[in-house]
Amino acid sequence: MKGVEALKRMAAERAVDYVRDGMVVGLGTGSTVYYALLKLGERVREGLDIVGIPTSRRTEEIARQRGIKLGDINDYPEIDLTIDGADEVDSNLNLIKGGGGALLREKIVAHATSFEIIIVDERKLSEVLGSFPLPVEIVPYGWRRTMKVLASHGCTPSLRMNGGSPYLTDNGNYIVDCAFGRIEDPAGLEEKLLRVPGVVEVGLFVGMCDLLIIGKDGGVEEVRRS
Ligand code: A5P
Repeated sequence: MKGVEALKRMAAERAVDYVRDGMVVGLGTGSTVYYALLKLGERVREGLDIVGIPTSRRTEEIARQRGIKLGDINDYPEIDLTIDGADEVDSNLNLIKGGGGALLREKIVAHATSFEIIIVDERKLSEVLGSFPLPVEIVPYGWRRTMKVLASHGCTPSLRMNGGSPYLTDNGNYIVDCAFGRIEDPAGLEEKLLRVPGVVEVGLFVGMCDLLIIGKDGGVEEVRRS
């Protein structure tokens, strides 16, 4: 049986096969995307010419170290292809993202992208979302009150911490991890939570994944959005 890191790497390397010369490529965040950055770095050294749009400071740093040319989304508002990870994927290719805290930039980049590839190992697959607590990015102002309102929508919210202080996103905001249990209607929940004052973005990505690449023990599987 293959270890989970091998499965992540297999999915990530397959995604990089979709990258072509001249593309603007969104670079997601996380330990699976890390392998895609390594592979992209290799291809850049072999002559691939792309501009990467990073979704986090962490990704920006790794990509820079690997020699990947980077751009600002303001200069490249149309992104050809993005490679990103996910924390959970349901059978309709809806996602929970934000385990790494980068959900806001990831969603902006995904929204600007023509072809969104999500790479996961098979442990991330679920029939229905909700095993992974839903990350919600909120502004620090009034965070206790915002958490109460989130709880009133049927979850147990928990403020993400970093040592003794609240975890801060790249945008200077907080993350609340919301344990909802089974999320039967991801689009409806996303819409409701986005209406809560103080909520900046929700880690539900509905209808945004064009191609799911799964690293499985038996090999790589590709699932296209129908
Ligand atoms: C980052 O905020 C997340 O959305 C990641 O894409 C997600 O957490 C997947 O990360 P791993 O590949 O590390 O599991």
